[in-house]
Amino acid sequence: MNPTRPASPATQPPDTPRNAPHIRDATEADLPAIQAIYAHHVLTGVASFEETPPSVDDLRARLAAVRSHGLPYMVAEIDGVVAGYCYATPYRPRAAYRNTIEDSIYVSDAYRGRGIGRVLLQALIERCENGPWRQMIAVIADGGSGGSLSLHSQLGFELTGTLKAVGYKHGRWLDTTLMQRTLGHGASTGPDDVSNEPADAGR
Ligand SMILES: CC(C)(COP(=O)(O)OP(=O)(O)OC[C@H]1O[C@@H](n2cnc3c(N)ncnc32)[C@H](O)[C@@H]1OP(=O)(O)O)[C@@H](O)C(=O)NCCC(=O)NCCS
Repeated sequence: MNPTRPASPATQPPDTPRNAPHIRDATEADLPAIQAIYAHHVLTGVASFEETPPSVDDLRARLAAVRSHGLPYMVAEIDGVVAGYCYATPYRPRAAYRNTIEDSIYVSDAYRGRGIGRVLLQALIERCENGPWRQMIAVIADGGSGGSLSLHSQLGFELTGTLKAVGYKHGRWLDTTLMQRTLGHGASTGPDDVSNEPADAGR
């Protein structure tokens, strides 16, 4: 991953679209665009510990798995182009972790540094707060060199620890930083207390 922050909108080419992103649920039609965004990050960066980009079919199965848990998978669209996406997955499979989820977020290099990540992640958090989930975990590689640590901090995530040298990619050992954010009532009420969910929330 290039640790240099991408150009700010003010230094983007004049033909670069600057409309506000439209955040919506992903559909299967978005998967080729999502695959292209993710494949780039897999091949050139360390945010993902995958080394071989998954196919569109692989991503179709992953989308279905996310939805099977009732969790959101969302895209940010600008001028009809999918500029980024994010989703939540169960943090760990065993039953007692059922109220804890992990977020994943990727923005196309062409659109980074324009606030899309922030809008997307905020929307994901709000959607998850309408469900039974109480904690959201971010597993951030390489100290968040690509902006992830900063992004999550701004949206209320707190540092909980660092796992040292748990990955090896692009010729170097990689740490992961764990961050955590309370969703809804967090641990202040029991997990079956439906008051986590706003009265008008649909799920
Ligand atoms: C991390 C990522 C999702 C952020 O999305 P984005 O649209 O570029 O971020 P935003 O423009 O909304 O910026 C949000 C904050 O992140 C920080 N940030 C964004 N890009 C950054 C970068 N390249 N370097 C350092 N900080 C950065 C800034 O603090 C920014 O806040 P500010 O505008 O008030 O300064 C995106 O850069 C990305 O896809 N990175 C590679 C994949 C990745 O790391 N995913 C996260 C896995 S946990």
